[in-house]
Amino acid sequence: MESLHCGIDFGTTNTSAALCDGKTVRVLPLDPANDLPSSLPSLLYLTRDQEPIVGRRAADTFIERNVDREVVLELVDLGVDIEAYVASEPDKSESYRPSARDHDMREAVRAHALQEVNSPGRLFQSLKTLLRHREFTTTEVFGSLYQIEELVSLVLKPVKAAVDAAAGGDVSRAVFGRPVRFSLDDGEDRLAEERLRTAAHIAGFREVVFFYEPVGACVEYAVAVPEERRLMVVDIGGGTCDVCVMQFGASGGTAERLAGSRILGVAGVPVAGDAIDREIIRGKMFPRFGKNARYGPSRLPMPQYLYNNILDWQNLYKLNTEEIIHWLIAAEADCDHPEGLRALRHLIQHNLGYPVAREVEAAKKRLSAAEETSISLHHGVIQIEERLERQEFAHIIEEQLEAMTESLTAAESAAGVRPEDLDLVLTTGGTSLIPAVRALLEDRYGAGRLHRRDTFTSVASGLAIVSRHL
Ligand SMILES: Nc1ncnc2c1ncn2[C@@H]1O[C@H](COP(=O)(O)OP(=O)(O)OP(=O)(O)O)[C@@H](O)[C@H]1O
Ligand SMILES: [Mg+2]
Repeated sequence: MESLHCGIDFGTTNTSAALCDGKTVRVLPLDPANDLPSSLPSLLYLTRDQEPIVGRRAADTFIERNVDREVVLELVDLGVDIEAYVASEPDKSESYRPSARDHDMREAVRAHALQEVNSPGRLFQSLKTLLRHREFTTTEVFGSLYQIEELVSLVLKPVKAAVDAAAGGDVSRAVFGRPVRFSLDDGEDRLAEERLRTAAHIAGFREVVFFYEPVGACVEYAVAVPEERRLMVVDIGGGTCDVCVMQFGASGGTAERLAGSRILGVAGVPVAGDAIDREIIRGKMFPRFGKNARYGPSRLPMPQYLYNNILDWQNLYKLNTEEIIHWLIAAEADCDHPEGLRALRHLIQHNLGYPVAREVEAAKKRLSAAEETSISLHHGVIQIEERLERQEFAHIIEEQLEAMTESLTAAESAAGVRPEDLDLVLTTGGTSLIPAVRALLEDRYGAGRLHRRDTFTSVASGLAIVSRHL
C-alpha cells in the first residue's frame, strides 16, 4: 500500500487537513462539534489549570464561563502606566495622556494596575496573525509562560492526532500552507514562517515543507481538470488575501503536469475577514455604544481607548474597574447620548465583547445570502437591532476591497499577464463569498471566468497532492 501524504492548512479562522494516497485525496474530519466537521476553528481556550480546549468547544466554553461572570479585580502594583489615565477625571479629552508632572494621576495609575483573580480561562483567536508580531513572544496564562509557538502547537496537536488516526500510524512529514505575505515587512514575514515551523515541530510534524496557500488551491483544481490552463487563484480567508497565477500543461499524468507547472506570480496582503469584522464594529456598533457622544460641561469627545477595547475584546474586562464605571456613570448623567453610554457600561460590566464580535461576524455571513440583515444584540439595557444592507456594507469595507484589488494587480504584474490572459479565476476562502468581493472579481475578470472551489478545504487538498508529488 502506498504511504499517505499530508497537507495542512493552518488558517487564521479555520484549520483543515487532507491525506493523499496517490489516487485520491481525503479531507479529514477535525472537529465533530463544528457545523463543518472538516474545519477546525483555530481557537484555543486555556483553562485556569492549563487544560487546552481547541475548536468549536473553545468558543462555547469561553461563552459559557466568561460572559456575564462577575469579574473580581485585584490591585497589583505593576508600575505600568496603562488604562487608568481617565480614572476619576471625567473632563479629560481623548488626546490626554498622564505626564511625569501629573503626580495625582501617576499615583492613580500605579494604584490601578489590575489583575483579574477569578478568570476561569483565556481564549485565543487569530493566533496565525500573532505569529508576525515581534513584540508578542510570550504571554502569561495563570502563572505559566507560553510562547506563541506553543500556543499554535496546541491547536495543531489535535490535527496531528487526527492525521495519525486516519493514516493508522505516525505521519511525520507534512506540507503546510503559508500565506503569500504573513506581513508586508520581510523580517516579520520570515519570523512568522519560522514560528509556524517550530509550532508544527512541537505538534509532532518532524519534517515540514511550506507552500503558498493559493498554490494548494490551484493544484487541487488543475489535478481535477487536466487541461492546459493559465489559472489565477484568489484565496481570501480570515487574515490574508492571497493571489497566485499558475500555468499548467494538458499532457501526462498528475506527476508530469505538476512537474511541468509554473508559478508565474504571487501577491498577498494581510487584509481579510478579521479586518472586515473590525470595520463593521467601528462603523455600526461603536455609535450604538456612544462613540460619538459628547459629555461634560465642555462637551468633550469620548476617549478612544474605551472603544479600542471593544475591538480587542480579550482585554475588555480590564475596563471593569470601579473608577471607569463611576466615570461612565458621571458622563452618562451629563451627555448627549446617555443610552449609548449606558449600553457601553453594560457591555463592559458583563464582558460582552466576544458575543458582539461573534454576532457581527454572523451578520456579515448572513449578508452573503441575503440583501439585508440586522445585527441583533439583546442583553439587559443593550437592545440593538442595527440594520445592515449590502450596499452600505460594501461602502464600509471600501478600504479593504481596495487592498484586495491592489493584490490582484500585483499578482498580474508579477506574472506579466493582463486580466484577459487568464483562462480561469478560481476563488476560495470564506471572505471570497462576500457579494462585494465577487462583484469586484466579476468586474475585472467577467462572471464566466470565475469558478468557485470548496471554500474551506481546497487549500489542504491541494497541499496533500503537492506532498505526494514533492
Ligand atoms: N458566508 C460567508 N460570507 C462572508 N464571509 C464569510 C462567510 N463564511 C466565512 N466567512 C469569513 O471567512 C473567514 C474565514 O475563512 P477561511 O476559513 O477561508 O479563513 P482561514 O483560511 O482560516 O484564514 P487565512 O487563510 O486568512 O489564514 C472569516 O473571516 C469568516 O468570517
Ligand atoms: Mg485560508
